[in-house]
Amino acid sequence: MFRTAAQRFSVASLHRRVLLITLRRFCNKAPRKLRVAELLSGTGLEANVQGWVRSVRSQKANLFVDVNDGSCLQSLQIVASPELNDPLLTFGSAVEVRGILKKSLHPKQAVELEAEHIHVVGECNPLDFPFKIKERHTLEYIRQFPHLRGRTNAFGSLLRIRGEATWAVHSYFKENGFAHIHTPIITSNDCEGAGELFQIEPSYPQNSQDENFFSVPAYLTVSGQLHLEVMTGSFSRVYTFGPTFRAENSQSRRHLAEFYMVEAEVAFTRSIEDLTEVMEDMFKRTTEHVLDRCARDVDLFHTHYADVRLPHKRAYDLLIISAAPAPPLTSACSASQWGCDLKTEHEKYLVKHCGTRPVFVTDYPYRLKPFYTRDNRDYPQHTAAAVDLLVPGVGELCGGSLREERLDLLRARLEEVGLEDTYSWYLDLRRFGSVPHGGFGMGFERYLQCILGVDNIKDVIPFPRFSHSCLL
Ligand code: 4AD
Repeated sequence: MFRTAAQRFSVASLHRRVLLITLRRFCNKAPRKLRVAELLSGTGLEANVQGWVRSVRSQKANLFVDVNDGSCLQSLQIVASPELNDPLLTFGSAVEVRGILKKSLHPKQAVELEAEHIHVVGECNPLDFPFKIKERHTLEYIRQFPHLRGRTNAFGSLLRIRGEATWAVHSYFKENGFAHIHTPIITSNDCEGAGELFQIEPSYPQNSQDENFFSVPAYLTVSGQLHLEVMTGSFSRVYTFGPTFRAENSQSRRHLAEFYMVEAEVAFTRSIEDLTEVMEDMFKRTTEHVLDRCARDVDLFHTHYADVRLPHKRAYDLLIISAAPAPPLTSACSASQWGCDLKTEHEKYLVKHCGTRPVFVTDYPYRLKPFYTRDNRDYPQHTAAAVDLLVPGVGELCGGSLREERLDLLRARLEEVGLEDTYSWYLDLRRFGSVPHGGFGMGFERYLQCILGVDNIKDVIPFPRFSHSCLL
């Protein structure tokens, strides 16, 4: 049976309305449980709190229990009659408490919960539990317990900050007209050409030794850049934010085998400044949001764990310097020659030399950069239109470049490295409506290290993966 356009339209809008009504009913049915962060600002409410005990103090007249549910750094103080005490009510145990929220007389908290009922949901033997009451464990110590470290103040704060920063990155790009692209985790390309790839194959035995599951060698992605470049050719501004993998045999305090990268690609770029503007803006907006939403969590890091603390005024004052052989890079590279790559010591020197604040370094030697980087054709120096953002305590936070959009130059470079056939699809992007474009990637864990002053990258990711370690 054929329907007229008007009939089709009304059937579609009816479907939409039925779906909306069903959704609303479903949402209304689900009772909203209040979390500690919400309860801390209300009084007179009857409340049911679920969480983990952070401290128990039994006094003659009252029993005091602090309960934390991960929603904020603060715990909710429970005041109860000593009769409600239970030998299983210990540091680390899981509890459910019913009571009335009252204004607290203690200056440390605005409200407390006067308990009517306390139920120990899950016991926790404090002698076996690796974290001890009132002890401030080091980040190195708590790192040994990836399955339990979320229960510490430090890691709880870190995960809340990580969540807010993730949200802030997405909202920055949304507000600025970037389309979010889910770039693949499995890929057949080595974007960076550095050979630091994890190859993937099924775990079951293959029929034939040389038969690949995908018929071609496949890897875990080192960067979503090339896939973003495909999409920037139609969406102009795109970004991705997902896990990336590097088989670097490194246990350094700034390298992981699996890390999260924020990557953006912008079409119709005129110069490297078009990119540094986006990097700087994203860095500032995300940091402002985190400082605003997670002030107490950030303070905890700055007070107790920060190694190098980036003064916020300076963080907002980014410098641009050229990597071309002029001071101060010449002195940073004094032990080596122009044309060498920047080592961690050089990066540290540059940041310090520029007043311990973030620094953009641009125009690297052409030969050091991957095949996709735009040639500046500035002989005899011969530089590439690449840019790195270096920050105190961490070194390289972002790496980016203008991409070679000129077909003949790109083809010549790919021929030189023997990759013309592999990247024929990439050359097609330059054949059909090619535009000047560029982009960058920011290591999300290094970003967290930078704003929190955390020395070791393994302390800013829930489950760190690095050579010789894959716990859980
Ligand atoms: O400089 P990289 O290798 O750049 C790229 O992958 C580009 N394709 C990105 C792009 O232009 N779309 O990596 C970008 C950033 C680095 O600046 C660093 O912050 C982080 O990713 N990074 C790592 N973080 C943790 N562990 C590692 N092993 C990392 N390698 C790079």
